[in-house]
Amino acid sequence: MKLGLLKALYIDTLVPFYARSEAENIFYIVLEHLDKKSKIDVLLGAETFIFESYQSILEELQQGIPVQYLTQIAPFYNLELFVSPGVLIPRPETEQLVHLVLEENRGTHKKVLDIGTGSGCIALALKNAWNESTITACDISEEALEVARKNAKDLSINVDFYQTDILTNEIAAYDILVSNPPYISLSEKDTMHKNVIENEPHLALFVADKDPLIFYKRIIQLAEKQRAICYFETSEFYRTSLDSWLIESGYSFEWKDDFQGKDRILKVIW
Ligand SMILES: C[S@@+](CC[C@H](N)C(=O)[O-])C[C@H]1O[C@@H](n2cnc3c(N)ncnc32)[C@H](O)[C@@H]1O
Repeated sequence: MKLGLLKALYIDTLVPFYARSEAENIFYIVLEHLDKKSKIDVLLGAETFIFESYQSILEELQQGIPVQYLTQIAPFYNLELFVSPGVLIPRPETEQLVHLVLEENRGTHKKVLDIGTGSGCIALALKNAWNESTITACDISEEALEVARKNAKDLSINVDFYQTDILTNEIAAYDILVSNPPYISLSEKDTMHKNVIENEPHLALFVADKDPLIFYKRIIQLAEKQRAICYFETSEFYRTSLDSWLIESGYSFEWKDDFQGKDRILKVIW
């Protein structure tokens, strides 16, 4: 089948579920994955001889399964990570968190803990770009830690991973704590894309409505004991409530914009 026709079939089928540009992007991800071909091959009128494979992926995409879980690959800050449904798919906002930590610390020797590591994306990207650092990462989920360890091994990046519940356990001494913790309150669930709710791990996404800031508060309190600088990803919806809590508690902090100009990166300093 001609790739141009296949592209049209993908877009027409996926447009009820995704924006047109996203549907097109998904087609190119599948094309690269199955045929190792790109946009230029479509323009040159190339064909595929494995239509059945495209068809079975398209059926799974129609059921709402994110393309990254089907290809098992997610690009993140110059790395290609293995992902499975036990981990959150790394997001572009999180690359900005990594970028900021690198910009402010690269070239120095620092001990860093990544809390709630998931696929290991933050920890692995930091170590990959910042060799003088010592990076440790933790998660409550053994399934996530298995994925993170596999990524570290496949990419030959040296990060130590361990299992812990950060809400109840103490931590060793670090210079920097970095985290993209669960921060979506359960009441926001109905406003989210069905694909995310039905496919990505709830342990990675949601916090109880009664205290959506629980991870930030706990991690900052752990950091305070050792004066570790904290870098967090958060939601712009928590800007006001985090501000109030941080000011009331007497902490010094800064907000950094993400690429859409939203306050999504929080830095706590001592
Ligand atoms: C939003 S995901 C972030 C994953 C990854 N760091 C990323 O940016 O893609 C939050 C992670 O926190 C982990 N987590 C949830 N509760 C936790 C807890 N009590 N202690 C440690 N990790 C926890 C989840 O398993 C999940 O991997």
